[in-house]
Order: sequence, then C-alpha cells, then structure tokens
Amino acid sequence: MFQSVKDVQKRMEETGYIPSREISTIVYLAQETQKPILIEGPAGVGKTELAKSIAVCLEQEMIRLQCYEGLDESKALYEWAYAKQLLYTQMLKGKINDVISNTATLAEAVDEIAEHDDAFFSHRFLQTRPLLAAISSEDPVVLLIDEVDKSDPEFEAFLLELLSDFQVTIPELGTIAAKSRPFVVLTSNNYRDMSDALKRRCIHLYIDYPDIETEKEILRMKIPGIQERLLSKVVDTVARIRELDLKKKPCISETLDWANALMILQQDDITEDAVFKTLNTLCKHRADYGVVRANIVHLIKG
Ligand SMILES: Nc1ncnc2c1ncn2[C@@H]1O[C@H](COP(=O)(O)OP(=O)(O)O)[C@@H](O)[C@H]1O
Ligand SMILES: [Mg+2]
Repeated sequence: MFQSVKDVQKRMEETGYIPSREISTIVYLAQETQKPILIEGPAGVGKTELAKSIAVCLEQEMIRLQCYEGLDESKALYEWAYAKQLLYTQMLKGKINDVISNTATLAEAVDEIAEHDDAFFSHRFLQTRPLLAAISSEDPVVLLIDEVDKSDPEFEAFLLELLSDFQVTIPELGTIAAKSRPFVVLTSNNYRDMSDALKRRCIHLYIDYPDIETEKEILRMKIPGIQERLLSKVVDTVARIRELDLKKKPCISETLDWANALMILQQDDITEDAVFKTLNTLCKHRADYGVVRANIVHLIKG
C-alpha cells in the first residue's frame, strides 16, 4: 500500500518513473477510493509505464489486457477449450458408450449425457483470459487495460459492468467474485472518445508531454553520464519541435533515443548537421522531416 502522495512519488521514482505531482496524487486517490484510473494522452508519454511502475511499487503481479478492434469476451475473459473437450470425448468414447448403453431412445441418451456435462464444463476446460485471471487471482494484482480506445463500444459496455462489481458469471460454473479488487489502470490514446459512463466510473488523468524540468529529470535518470549542457539543449529543442505542426510529435522515448544517438556520435552540441544526422530518431514520418528541416534555424537557436 502507498502511505501518502509523497510516498507514491518516492517509490515510483525508485522504479525509474518520474511522476508529476498530479500523477502521484491521482494514484494515491485511486488506491484509497479503489477506483480505476483512466489515463488519456498522446502516445509515448508514459501511460503504460505508469501501470508497470505501480505494480513494481506494490510488489504485485501486473496482468495486461491489450485492446484491439474486434476484441471480445472470449479473448478478454474466458473461453471453453473446445479442441480439448473434443479430444477428451474422442478418447473417452468407450466410457461414453457405457453411460448410454442402457438407454433406448436418442432423447434418453441425450438426457443421460447431459447428466455428465459438468465433467466437460469444469475448470479443467476453462481457458482463463486476462480479466478472469485478474478477478480470480488469490493475491491482489494490478490490471492494465491498455489502449482501451482501440476496442469496440460493445466491449467498453461489457467492461463497465465488470468494473462496477468485479465479478463474472460463467453460466456453467457460477459467479466468481474478486477476492480482492485489482488496482485497475485503463489507458487511451484518444483514438475515439470513451463513453461518459466509463469516465464516471474512473478517476480521469490526462498525461501530456512533460514539462522541461520533468523531461530533464527523466533523461538524467535514464542516461547517466549525459552532460548537463547537452541534456538542456536536447530537452529545449524537443520542446520546440513539439510546437511544430507534425504528424507525430516526438515522445519521451524519442527524446531518449535522440540523446543517446547524439552521445554515441559524440555530438556535444546541437548543430544543424547534428540534427540532420540523427533526425530519424525523432521523426517517424517523411513529411515531418521536411517540417523540421524548414524550421531548423529556429529550432537550434540559443
Ligand atoms: N514519467 C516518466 N518517467 C520515466 N520514464 C518515462 C516517463 N514517461 C515516459 N517515460 C519513458 O517513455 C517510454 C514510453 O512510455 P509508455 O508508457 O510506453 O508510453 P504510452 O503508453 O503513453 O504510449 C517509457 O518506456 C519510458 O522510458
Ligand atoms: Mg502504451
């Protein structure tokens, strides 16, 4: 358990994650109110990493459900292992014949088999998917429902139900209620708007690109040995690049890649030449290369 907002900050930093004051506060509130956190924000600002860091801090397993279009309950919650059930019926043919040997009609035979169907709809044939794994875990876990905006609205509606009572009913097995509520983190890259109902159920957190000081701190921690002067210039330049009209703005991992590339190439200053040589670490779209080139004088000033 986290003891306070300060404790969240301290322990997250120990895992290599630099939380803003707002992030630490929301993580603490989420723990105390047992509400899920819905994190929105552009790609690469540390949404997924935040959930991982919480799991490390709490020394809990993190169970991750990666969302995508077409994701349904059978991939998210549970599925019967049909192939295995079929294999067992094949191998048990003799036994099944014994069971129905005293029946005269087809209807009687079906009834007799139905008497035994719980043998085939038991935990042995249940394929547990991430949501069921999180609910049925003996120990508390962190449940990361990543990129929930990529799933379909029907799936979101199903999630809502799950997030309100933390239990699922499997018709053949009964209701399984969570032994302890998982710490739930949902992330969204704003592909589509999440419903008001989902937002209501969660504590909302918007993570934007970090401010200059936070990004410097992240770089200092992730790239030990980087010169303070280069670090400042890298972060300032990236902040200016983010103001340009780009298809994809550089995120924190791209700042890290860029700083690393500059160090490997022993560039201790940010010149036009240094930027052009390493631009592929910052921009991932051809059109963006052109935009950066056109603004190079403004970008490297100071
Ligand atoms: N606050 C932070 N402190 C430390 N590293 C961070 C932070 N935010 C982002 N990062 C770095 O950025 C990378 C990308 O973050 P990630 O969580 O994958 O982004 P998202 O899920 O938002 O797309 C991480 O691997 C991590 O190295
Ligand atoms: Mg992510």
